Amino acid sequence: MTFQQQADTGFDHDKALAFAGRMSDFISAGAVAVMTSIGHRTGLFDTMAGRAPATSAEIADVCGLAERYVREWLAVMVTGGVVTYDPAGARYHLPPEHAASLTRGAPLGNLAVYAQHVALMGQVQERILRCFASGEGAAYADYPDFHRLMAEDSDQTVVDQLDTVILPLAGDLPERLAAGIDVLDAGCGRGRALLAMARKYPLSRFLGLDLCADALEDATREAAARGLTNVRFEVCDMTDFAAEAAFDLITSFDAVHDQKHPADFLRRLHRALRPGGIHLMQDIGGSARLEANMEFPMAPLLYAISCLHCTPVSLGQGGEGLGTMWGWETAERMLREAGHASVTRHVLPHDPMNVWFVSRKA
Ligand SMILES: C[S@@+](CC[C@H](N)C(=O)[O-])C[C@H]1O[C@@H](n2cnc3c(N)ncnc32)[C@H](O)[C@@H]1O
Repeated sequence: MTFQQQADTGFDHDKALAFAGRMSDFISAGAVAVMTSIGHRTGLFDTMAGRAPATSAEIADVCGLAERYVREWLAVMVTGGVVTYDPAGARYHLPPEHAASLTRGAPLGNLAVYAQHVALMGQVQERILRCFASGEGAAYADYPDFHRLMAEDSDQTVVDQLDTVILPLAGDLPERLAAGIDVLDAGCGRGRALLAMARKYPLSRFLGLDLCADALEDATREAAARGLTNVRFEVCDMTDFAAEAAFDLITSFDAVHDQKHPADFLRRLHRALRPGGIHLMQDIGGSARLEANMEFPMAPLLYAISCLHCTPVSLGQGGEGLGTMWGWETAERMLREAGHASVTRHVLPHDPMNVWFVSRKA
């Protein structure tokens, strides 16, 4: 059908062209995101930050990378508006205002860490296509490098703010940790937060449980390298976790929504707390209602992660597959139904994609 024929049927030509332009921008932005992941992994952003404009050969040399590939990467970054280019001297520059959200330790948080999710999504496309056809789930082993990525994510949203912002959410928790209590991190992954707490609070005892042995090997190695003797990590499928009144503090960092049965999991964690114990929980902060997430930070990315990772790994355990955007309302309801005497919800400025709950057992 021609545009003229479509116009006769009420088809809005301008709207169609505007949308095609927007889709083109999405596709280009996706490419920039994958290349941003490469810029992070290779250290290109870190090397360019704070440096005078330099040629591709100079940048490649400092990074120890192949110039031909670096030049091509730089071309993406220049046309994507990330890096500036001076054709006179063929020099490239990463403006400090851009480095402020693209480098390790960046003041605005390193968004390049999240770009890695986009690269990972591309890697699992074939696997997930099979899930679309059959309805089956996937396994953590289907996601190469997932735990390394999550540990970097955790370093930013949890570890960096643990002492100043996160632990004080639960009142005198820092003092109790200093005095010596029993702590469990449920679904700890590489255990970055637990390692940080174990170092800061030598009188407390820390246990990290997770399904994935490879993540725990890294955590155990790191504990040994730091000389920590008050933390241990154990492989455990927590679906049937049956501890009773064994811990004073249970933490879960982004580890409930993709469980097999999140409501049952929260009940088990509640049972594992001693009276007066606290469950400190970080999870995704979107709403359970799609229409309420139109302005939620990076909602399309989170729904994509949900479709390509969180939903399939839950389904793969025979679970409910609630997905990443299960909703803070669902989380709050399940925490209350688990039996907690009080549940408070917090949204922290450094972590707008997540919600934090402090739940206390009577
Ligand atoms: C999104 S990751 C978060 C990891 C870690 N807390 C962090 O912040 O980096 C979710 C974690 O839950 C773990 N997990 C999923 N199902 C589990 C189960 N049934 N038992 C124990 N751990 C599980 C996964 O292996 C994964 O490490």
